[in-house]
Amino acid sequence: MNANSALLDVHVPAKHFAGRRVLHDFSLTLLPGEIVSLVGASGCGKSTLLRIVAGLDREHDGRVLLDGSVQHGVSRDIGVIFQEARLLPWLTVAQNVGFDADPQRAHDPHVFTLLEEVGLAQVADALPKSLSGGMAQRVAIARGLFNRPRLLLLDEPFSAVDAFTRIRLQELLLTVAREHGTTILLVTHDVDEAAWLSDRVLVMGDGRVIGDVAVGEQRPRNRRSAGMTNARNAILEILEGAHVV
Ligand SMILES: Nc1ncnc2c1ncn2[C@@H]1O[C@H](COP(=O)(O)OP(=O)(O)OP(=O)(O)O)[C@@H](O)[C@H]1O
Ligand SMILES: [Mg+2]
Repeated sequence: MNANSALLDVHVPAKHFAGRRVLHDFSLTLLPGEIVSLVGASGCGKSTLLRIVAGLDREHDGRVLLDGSVQHGVSRDIGVIFQEARLLPWLTVAQNVGFDADPQRAHDPHVFTLLEEVGLAQVADALPKSLSGGMAQRVAIARGLFNRPRLLLLDEPFSAVDAFTRIRLQELLLTVAREHGTTILLVTHDVDEAAWLSDRVLVMGDGRVIGDVAVGEQRPRNRRSAGMTNARNAILEILEGAHVV
């Protein structure tokens, strides 16, 4: 891949916590519009890497380039969605979505456009405590898109919801990513989810990338197609080879 045309170009020679090496010789390049997943065993460094890309952890000797520019901390061009929705309980749904601008700007038309996109316009004035887990995560997706980020980072965003909600949220993510032209880097433990959502799946082992599986299947995809099975098997083979599963 030509790094010059990349939206995101990350290289982390090493990242340590308390003298223990967590990432080493980690490189990652994302093209504009690409959807890439990171899979790997618990503790292999996925969230650490995502926090570095998000600018939330700067204690490393690597570099993060977004569209060729070195990143120095958090940026409006990079949105983050975590496993839990992390909504502020005292703000309404609309205020949570527009929080980065100003909670008073909850009536910003952009907030309502986003809430409509995630199917929650009718609960704009509700408080988070009245939402189901799946609804709360849809608010988090709307909030993640509020600053019109070029890159959206997601760390196991759907692992706390039931299987049906998860499928609906996966489809919603693909729709909003396509409509907004957002590039996506997603951490997941679910190999099926990684294969179905992604253009490429990066397999991590022991703090670095040990496999890069291209998922060539056309969209919209069929979860039960031979192409999906092949992609899943290729990912599992790499994980098995690394004695991760
Ligand atoms: N703030 C921290 N201080 C010390 N060690 C940390 C810290 N954050 C992460 N670690 C360690 O770094 C390693 C990688 O953690 P990380 O959270 O990146 O793993 P992960 O791949 O996201 O795991 P999981 O799949 O369980 O979420 C782990 O051994 C973890 O214990
Ligand atoms: Mg993690």
